[in-house]
Amino acid sequence: MAVEASAPGKVILFGEHSVVYRGPAIVLAIDKRARVVAQKRSDSRIFFDALDLGFAGYFEGGRYHSVVGKPRRGRSLEAFNMAAVKTMEHLGVESGVSLSIRSEIPIAVGLGSSAAVSVATVAAVGALLGGGLPRDEVCSLAYEGEKVVHGTPSGVDNNISTYGGILMFERDVGFERFELDHSPPFIIGNTRWKRSTRRMVERVRMLRNRNQRVVDDIIDAIGCIAGEGLAALRRADLERVGDLMNINHGLLASLGVSSPELELMVHASRRSGALGSKLTGAGGGGCMIALAEDASIPRIEKAIQRRGGESISVNISHEGVATREVG
Ligand code: MEV
Repeated sequence: MAVEASAPGKVILFGEHSVVYRGPAIVLAIDKRARVVAQKRSDSRIFFDALDLGFAGYFEGGRYHSVVGKPRRGRSLEAFNMAAVKTMEHLGVESGVSLSIRSEIPIAVGLGSSAAVSVATVAAVGALLGGGLPRDEVCSLAYEGEKVVHGTPSGVDNNISTYGGILMFERDVGFERFELDHSPPFIIGNTRWKRSTRRMVERVRMLRNRNQRVVDDIIDAIGCIAGEGLAALRRADLERVGDLMNINHGLLASLGVSSPELELMVHASRRSGALGSKLTGAGGGGCMIALAEDASIPRIEKAIQRRGGESISVNISHEGVATREVG
């Protein structure tokens, strides 16, 4: 028997970085998913096939052995290995498993690809070896994987990837899930510059260590924007949502997490008619998000492309993690 689990990526609309400390973030699941197919093995290896990315290999006794691709590629699999190991420990079973990873979510650009693979890994291994896990357990086991990649993540990525939809998430508090009766038109611009979330979070931490009062006030202002932003989103007041995105972007830039490429695309989008635009995710490269009336979308897409970016059109996905038997 084989089990396939899939989980969505995400965009943060308001509250990245501040959510690491306190206050809410507003995050949307997107209709780009990571898929993991799990199968039992007769040996004790945890074997990963990430051949779409050009590598495959296995963990045995906690060490990575490359089969295809450079051994250092195993570093990016450590999180998913941890997610699989923690799931087996949780179930009280030991087994070799083969995990085949395929993903539509661009990697390391702020769209939650690592959390989606961690969530799908836990769900697939949980279903294969334990008959299925409840979502709260999938979410907290995936967080163990996330910690390997990101250090001390807020948990926003594994939560949205598990539950889907639109969440207002607050660290150590939990989340509320929202439905909208309209679908706001968002455009994502990918600078194609990959960056490490861990490093960007560390950069903000160091800035805060040197300037605690000022940075804490910025963190609180972003938390306030997230609360107001959700209210505006729910009443479909897109002009206000756009204002708040612009203010949020300015505050993120003041925390040092923007980049020249992001600035170009954020400002070009606004000049091309976006109601608001901001970086999304950890910043330092990665992606920006623009909110626009339908009529301006083609101009904004062109503006993003002219600045060297890739425009990606996404819809909100209401489906969180899902599993099914295959083969
Ligand atoms: C990463 O998607 C968002 C950050 O706020 C980090 C985190 O919440 O752990 C930058």
